[in-house]
Amino acid sequence: MAVCRLEKYLSDAGCGTRSEIRSLIKAGRVSVNGMPCTDGSRREDYALLDVTVDGKAVTYEEFVYYLLNKPAGCVSATRDALSDTVVELLQGVNTKGLFPVGRLDKDTEGLLLITNDGQMAHRMLSPKKHVEKKYYVNLDRPLAQADKEKIENCIDIGDEKPCLPAVIEYADPAVFITITEGRYHQVKRMFAACGYEVTYLKRISMGPLQLPDDLQPGAYIKIKAPVI
Ligand code: URA
Repeated sequence: MAVCRLEKYLSDAGCGTRSEIRSLIKAGRVSVNGMPCTDGSRREDYALLDVTVDGKAVTYEEFVYYLLNKPAGCVSATRDALSDTVVELLQGVNTKGLFPVGRLDKDTEGLLLITNDGQMAHRMLSPKKHVEKKYYVNLDRPLAQADKEKIENCIDIGDEKPCLPAVIEYADPAVFITITEGRYHQVKRMFAACGYEVTYLKRISMGPLQLPDDLQPGAYIKIKAPVI
């Protein structure tokens, strides 16, 4: 971070709304290098200084990463007039600037990365990078071997180009599918092209990230920057 006003530094660090921060400063509850600072407009590179609120250190992280187990029923967006959003599930987190890396359908569960790191998100989503995404899938009937092979080998789902190769593993009665693209409703459309309906869909990995077995739907963990 660079030189900025104290008020902005505290706001970016998630210390409250602008008016809450102004009150904290006015009340002398904010100190810089051990001295109360009552001037919110003072400009410094606060990342290099010791800033506290009520004696507690304020830490500023430029980029943050949260791995959410998205529950069914919420949308992969930052705001929505009608439904809960994945970002709203991060209770107690400063969600300013956070967005989901890609989308899962409203009824899909599983791994969703939420961050403010646009460059990392771009690397994760770039079609050129072929990042692997693995899904656990329930179908309305058992998957025939011949259909498994069709879906694995560049199935046509009505787009300009057929899909890239996929890998399917049987996990009776469910299946796992690994794809390296991120087309709209892709998994559902791949199975629909062979006459199957996906009755349950959960993403269990994306690139280097794995959904922890014990992370309940709706729960999230803070993680380090994914190496990608
Ligand atoms: N494919 C789908 O059909 N839906 C998702 O949510 C993700 C992949």
